[in-house]
Amino acid sequence: PDAPEFATALLAWFDAHQRILPWRDNRDAYRIWVSEVMLQQTQVKTVIPHFERFLRRFPTIHDLSAADEQTVLREWEGLGYYRRAKHLHQAAKQLAPLSTNGLPSDPKTWEELPGVGRYILGAVLSQAFDLRLPIVEANTIRVLSRLFAYRDDPRDTTGKKWLWQTAERILPTARIGDFNQALMELGALVCTPDAPACSKCPVASFCAANHLGEQASIPMAP
Ligand code: ADE
Repeated sequence: PDAPEFATALLAWFDAHQRILPWRDNRDAYRIWVSEVMLQQTQVKTVIPHFERFLRRFPTIHDLSAADEQTVLREWEGLGYYRRAKHLHQAAKQLAPLSTNGLPSDPKTWEELPGVGRYILGAVLSQAFDLRLPIVEANTIRVLSRLFAYRDDPRDTTGKKWLWQTAERILPTARIGDFNQALMELGALVCTPDAPACSKCPVASFCAANHLGEQASIPMAP
């Protein structure tokens, strides 16, 4: 997975097989940010209609920052975890004055915002601006653990450290946002929790778990 051929194979598969999802239309940082906040705790299928409605109601960061909190929370109904909506709204108020020419691309500015952890930072800035930042989330935990046959618990402190280091190390030099999306998409469509479709996997030849026949037992059960 450290070889450039890995990224080439993964990206070619992504170009051919990715799902058409509303937040993949363009690279608008605001749209991507809203989508990633929603997707952090809610399934793709549920997010789609809510995302489209939310973007119709608040098409730009300026519309969101100008709204009052009650209105934002009402538009969040059905997604749950309302703290995400409160943080998104507070962060929009902080970012809007800095966004006269589009949202800022500086990681330092984003890191200070409520609700922006390492995942949101990497997901938004890699997709919107192609910054070389990794992501780790549920799908990529599984994909990376299998690629490297990581047999320990990827969710403990050591495991998390290994995941972030590994996710960073295997980033290609271009198309960072697509590469991150492709890792998640592979986890959603091929490298699934049960019965992964290794025969259809574009990177099976790079996968240690596949070589060892251990894809069913990696990652270890929580
Ligand atoms: N899960 C988290 N982010 C995602 C994205 N951008 N596309 C699909 N699934 C995701």
